[in-house]
Amino acid sequence: MFQIFILAVLFFFFSSPFPSHGAVQDFCVADFMAPEGPAGYSCKMPANVTVDDFVFTGLVKGGNTSNIIKAAVTPAFAAQFPGVNGLGISMARLDLAPGGVVPLHTHPGGSEVLVVVQGSILAGFISSSANTVYMKTLKRGEIMVFPKGLLHFQVNARGITAIAFVSFSSPSPGLQILDFALFANNLPSALVEKTTFLDDAQVKKLKAVLGGTG
Ligand SMILES: *[C@@H]1O[C@H](CO)[C@@H](O)[C@H](O)[C@H]1NC(C)=O
Ligand SMILES: *[C@@H]1O[C@H](CO)[C@@H](O)[C@H](O)[C@H]1NC(C)=O
Repeated sequence: MFQIFILAVLFFFFSSPFPSHGAVQDFCVADFMAPEGPAGYSCKMPANVTVDDFVFTGLVKGGNTSNIIKAAVTPAFAAQFPGVNGLGISMARLDLAPGGVVPLHTHPGGSEVLVVVQGSILAGFISSSANTVYMKTLKRGEIMVFPKGLLHFQVNARGITAIAFVSFSSPSPGLQILDFALFANNLPSALVEKTTFLDDAQVKKLKAVLGGTG
């Protein structure tokens, strides 16, 4: 009986795909020759992978904050940083000039954790069920999480440029900014007004500022 049990265990062990499967992959560096699918980019041939696929220098400097939001979001997602493809992680850098704001936005694909490295940031998110607001002014070194998909924002809370680094639980978390979705495209103003309860003057004003038409 005991021998049969041992044989059964051995059979299970050697037939299980996990311990004995030969196709373990250390990484799947994005191959930009093919388009991104729901599971990410396909993998570059390992012979073509170099250390530079795993290093990203694009966050050393912040983006240009001379814009309407006085802020810059610099992504290190799979599309910019091929080494994170398939790893379930990515990063970005936020630069908020005095008065700067990252308007209400969501990342449909991942949760976010933010660490302030300079200045001070008022950050918050809104729950989807009760529309409860969770917000706090964060100082240097303090961190906050933003659950996947929820609307959230960051506002410079002091008179000096604020800098934060954020990481995501996805290599391609996506970014949809609410104001841009509403006012930076060609959705007819009448429909924007109907679906937001905003008045015509406000909608036309925001379309003019954000580059929308219709
Ligand atoms: C790998 O490198 C070779 C030689 O540079 C190139 O011809 C080939 O297209 C590359 N393949 C991939 C998948 O990047
Ligand atoms: C930042 O953007 C502004 C407005 O587009 C532009 O005038 C300025 O030259 C840019 N600055 C840098 C350093 O690229």
